[in-house]
Amino acid sequence: MTYTSSWRSPSNIALIKYWGKHSLQLPRNPSLSFTLSACHTQMKLEVTPEASTPGLVVMYDGTPRPPFELKIKTFFSLVSDRFPWLAQASIVIDSVNTFPHGAGIASSASAMSALALCLTDIHDQLNGQDHGQDADWWCRASEVARLGSGSACRSVYPVAALWGASSGIADSSDEYAIPWGNEIAPVYHDFQDTILIVSTKEKAVSSTAGHKLMEGLAYADTRYAEAKNNLLKLCDIMRRPDALDQFITIVESEALQLHALMMSGDTPFILMEPGTISLIKEIWHYRKETGIPVCFTLDAGPNVHLLYPKEYTATILEWVKSTLTTYCAEGRYIKDHVGNGPEKV
Ligand code: DP6
Repeated sequence: MTYTSSWRSPSNIALIKYWGKHSLQLPRNPSLSFTLSACHTQMKLEVTPEASTPGLVVMYDGTPRPPFELKIKTFFSLVSDRFPWLAQASIVIDSVNTFPHGAGIASSASAMSALALCLTDIHDQLNGQDHGQDADWWCRASEVARLGSGSACRSVYPVAALWGASSGIADSSDEYAIPWGNEIAPVYHDFQDTILIVSTKEKAVSSTAGHKLMEGLAYADTRYAEAKNNLLKLCDIMRRPDALDQFITIVESEALQLHALMMSGDTPFILMEPGTISLIKEIWHYRKETGIPVCFTLDAGPNVHLLYPKEYTATILEWVKSTLTTYCAEGRYIKDHVGNGPEKV
């Protein structure tokens, strides 16, 4: 008998950055993210347990992609105690991303969260417990996603997610993310994220290698303390509808700190491109001139995430087209926004 599960799972963008990990993908500091919508992975998992010829086939849009198999096998070995049936199963994974390959958008959060959701779902089917998803179910899926890629654990919740044990935040944990949408003001529930594609090149440094560079960095402990502090401050700020200025200060500082950390190791690396810097300056100038609360964040790459309240969408997109696309590779950008989380398809 073959069991099937299909999920669509979104990417997320961190406001407080996870950068530095230990043990089995446990974070050195808590992080907070918006769940996105347009950028997502759709995945189908087919599992035949106790197959006569166990094995794994990984496909992208129907075409076999053997290079991904090693990463998935490593992940399966990390979750084998939860899903013991994996060892003797014949498994086919087929997925497709909505965001184009080579757009410089990391797919690990959406892909690994989609895989975690499919696995958790199939596990229920195998155990005759396919009764839908309660809070505990999402928590388990988040933990499985974390083992695939740290940031993926935040993608399983609508609107926003918080990952990492934080003093004073009930139920927060290093093992899994918790939903955070109900803790933030309505203005953030439909926040826009226009992703300005500065470069379409593959990432020069993988996140895993990047996290490693935090080990032994002179500023590491200061950074972890700062991130913890920023997280608590941002949680307070985002509860209020009228504190966008303070939101902007912390979010931009987190993005710049992430890149400053990368530049300060013994083997420094610079992931920003000239276009990244130009965009940051344009954003600062425009915000000062117009008073519109638009800001940026960055992940571990050169692309700029332009964040702003929905009410300014038309005005901002005009400015993007007239000015900001000058700095984008082939004028490319992706219109995304805070979304409703994964969906079973
Ligand atoms: C800069 O989750 O990609 O995007 O756990 O090694 O898979 P691994 O790393 P990953 O790191 C994400 C780093 C970041 C910040 C963030 O998303 O919080």
